[in-house]
Amino acid sequence: MQELTSKKISLATKNMDKYEEMRNILEDYNLDLRVVDLKGTEIQAFSVLSVAEHSAKEIASKTDDAFIVEDSGIYVNSLYGFPGPYSAFVYKTIGLGGIVRLLKNREDKTAEFHSALVYGDKGKVVKSFIGICEGTISTDLQGELGFGYDPIFIPKGKKKTFAEMELNEKNQISHRSKAARIFAEWLENNK
Ligand code: IMP
Repeated sequence: MQELTSKKISLATKNMDKYEEMRNILEDYNLDLRVVDLKGTEIQAFSVLSVAEHSAKEIASKTDDAFIVEDSGIYVNSLYGFPGPYSAFVYKTIGLGGIVRLLKNREDKTAEFHSALVYGDKGKVVKSFIGICEGTISTDLQGELGFGYDPIFIPKGKKKTFAEMELNEKNQISHRSKAARIFAEWLENNK
């Protein structure tokens, strides 16, 4: 028999842009995403996966409900992967202009967005999923949509930044959308 009720999943975040992106994708899989104010500690680690997994362990100890936690960062190749897990700090300090200036005289402007999504249920961390989106850093800020680094990130094969894309277009290719789809497909097959 076909399942009619959607499965409720909580997303531990304060970032409503992330929530909107993921809600949009997960509803196609009959998953009803809600925001909960259950944030684990964001440790400083080399990968966004370690950050998300640490946070998920703390959240799992506080709730028996199904939840996901997502941590992301931008890795610039010519800067040896910087800022990576320090993306939020760098955004608040040198900002997008600072990143553009750092890359001004570098030929290689390629970068990758990584999204680490960790799923937990019944008080346990269950499984982690990674989504990666390759692209380049633009030479100036372009577009007003989205959030964070979107105005300086041009995904591979596109001629515009994430900030020049409507949510549906970003959601076809973004790191977060990839992680969310792999998670939803895994969940469908592992009910
Ligand atoms: P966090 O995953 O919320 O810790 O995000 C780390 C940093 O990366 C923050 O400065 C975010 O604004 C930025 N960020 C995360 N995901 C995206 C995205 O999809 N587009 C642009 N910036 C992002």
